[in-house]
Amino acid sequence: MSDNTMKLTSAEGHSVELNLRKGTVGPEVVDISSLYREMGVFTYDPGFVSTASCQSAITYIDGGKGELWYRGYPIEQLAERASYLEVAYLLLYGDLPHAPQLAEFQRIIRYHTMINETLKNFFNGFHYDAHPMAVMVGVVGSLSAFYHDSLDIHDPRHREISAHRMIAKMPTIAAASYKHNVGEPFIYPRNDLDYCANFLNMMFATPCEEYTQDPVAVKAVNLLFILHADHEQNASTSTVRLAGSSQANPFACIASGIASLWGPAHGGANEAVLDMLQEIGDVSNIDKYIARAKDKQDPFRLMGFGHRVYKNHDPRATIIRKICHEVLNNMADNDSPLFELALRLEEMALQDEYFIERKLYPNVDFYSGIIYRALGIPNSMFTVMFAIARTVGWVAHWMEMMDDPQQRIGRPRQVYTGADRRDYIPLEHR
Ligand code: CMC
Repeated sequence: MSDNTMKLTSAEGHSVELNLRKGTVGPEVVDISSLYREMGVFTYDPGFVSTASCQSAITYIDGGKGELWYRGYPIEQLAERASYLEVAYLLLYGDLPHAPQLAEFQRIIRYHTMINETLKNFFNGFHYDAHPMAVMVGVVGSLSAFYHDSLDIHDPRHREISAHRMIAKMPTIAAASYKHNVGEPFIYPRNDLDYCANFLNMMFATPCEEYTQDPVAVKAVNLLFILHADHEQNASTSTVRLAGSSQANPFACIASGIASLWGPAHGGANEAVLDMLQEIGDVSNIDKYIARAKDKQDPFRLMGFGHRVYKNHDPRATIIRKICHEVLNNMADNDSPLFELALRLEEMALQDEYFIERKLYPNVDFYSGIIYRALGIPNSMFTVMFAIARTVGWVAHWMEMMDDPQQRIGRPRQVYTGADRRDYIPLEHR
C-alpha cells in the first residue's frame, strides 16, 4: 500500500520518514502513526480537517468535483434505479445483490421488523411532547438490553444478525416515536409491504383507518433514504466507530450515532432548514436573512448551506431539487410556496460574494425537509428519517471496523493548556 515516503525534519534537525498511503482514488495520506514514537510530537487537527481516521472501502466523496459513490457506484445511478434495500445490501456486503440475494435480504429484514413488546414500555417513560430524536436515542440504546443470543461482537455471524435487526427495527421505532408524540396507538409492521411503504403505513395508518399508499410518496422516501444512506466518516459515523472501537454493544454504538446526528450542524439541519424557511416567510425577507448569515456577530447561519467536504454542489441536493417538483405536483396539500422560497434563497445566496468565496452551496438537507413535509411528515421527524436511512451506513462502518485487523481503540491525544504541576493546598490555607 505504501510505495512512497515523505521526510519530516524538526527545527532541531531530527528527521523521520513517513509512509504515504494511496487509496483507490483521492489524495495521498501521510501515515503519521510512528510520529510520536520517532519524534515525540503529536499532530493537531481540530475537527479532523486533514486527518483520515481509518481506511474504508464503503463510500467515496470528491468534494471538489461534487461526486459521491457508494462502493464505486455514482449516487446519481443508484438514486435513479435502485431500491433502498438494494443499496443497503450494497453498503453492507460490498456488491449489488443478484435477484435471489436481494429476495433473501428483503425476507430477512422483513422478519426482523417487530420490536419486543416490552420495549413499548420505554416509550411510556417519555412525555408525549419529547422530541422524537430524544426518544430514538433512548429506545435504540435500550435495544442493547435485548438479544443476548447474538451479542458476541467477535462472531461475524452475530454481528450480521445485529446489523439486520438494526436496519429492520429502526423504521418501527421511528414510527412508534411519532405515534407516541401524537397520542395514537402503535401500528405493527406489515410484512407484505416493502421497507419504505411499511414505514409510511406505520406512520399514517390507525386502527380505525387504513393508510392508502401513494406510489409517489413511496418513491420519494426510497430516494431520500438512498441519498442519506452513507457519507463516509461524517460526525455520526465517526461517533459510531469511536464508540465501537472500545468493543461496546452495537445497539449502544448506534444510539451514540443518533445522538451525534441530532445536532443542527449535522442531520438536525433538515429540521432547522424548514424552521428557517418558515421564519423567513416571504421572498422579500431573504436579503435580511442573508445579511444575518454573513454577520459574524450574529450566530445565525443559512441552514442547509455549506459542507465540510463539498466545495462544489452537493450531488444529493441536486438530485433532491429535481424531484421536488414531481413530489409537490402530486401532493394535494403541497408546500410549493416554501419550495419557491427555497429556490429563490438558493439563487440569491449563490450570487453573493460571501457564499461564492467560501464555496458554500446547498447541501442534502436544504431540500429534503420540503419533500418530507409534503408527505405529511412533521418537522420534528425529519432528522429521525435521516437516522433510519443512515443506520445502514453506521452499521456497515461498524462491521468494516470490527473486521479490520488494524482496528484499535480510538484514543486521540490533546494539547494540554491547563495549569502546570502544582501542589495541593489544604482548605484552611487557600
Ligand atoms: N451560513 C453562513 N456562513 C457559513 C455557513 C452557513 N451555512 N457555513 C459555513 N459558513 C462560513 C463560516 O462562517 C466560515 O466563515 P469564515 O471563514 O469567514 O470564518 C466559513 O464559511 C467556513 O465554515 P466552517 O464552519 O469553518 O466550515 P465547517 O466545515 O467547519 O462546517 C458545516 C461545515 C456544514 C457545519 C457548516 O457549513 C454549517 O454550519 N452549515 C449549516 C448547517 C448545515 O446545513 N449542516 C448540514 C450539513 S450536510 C448534512 C450532514 O452533515 O448531516
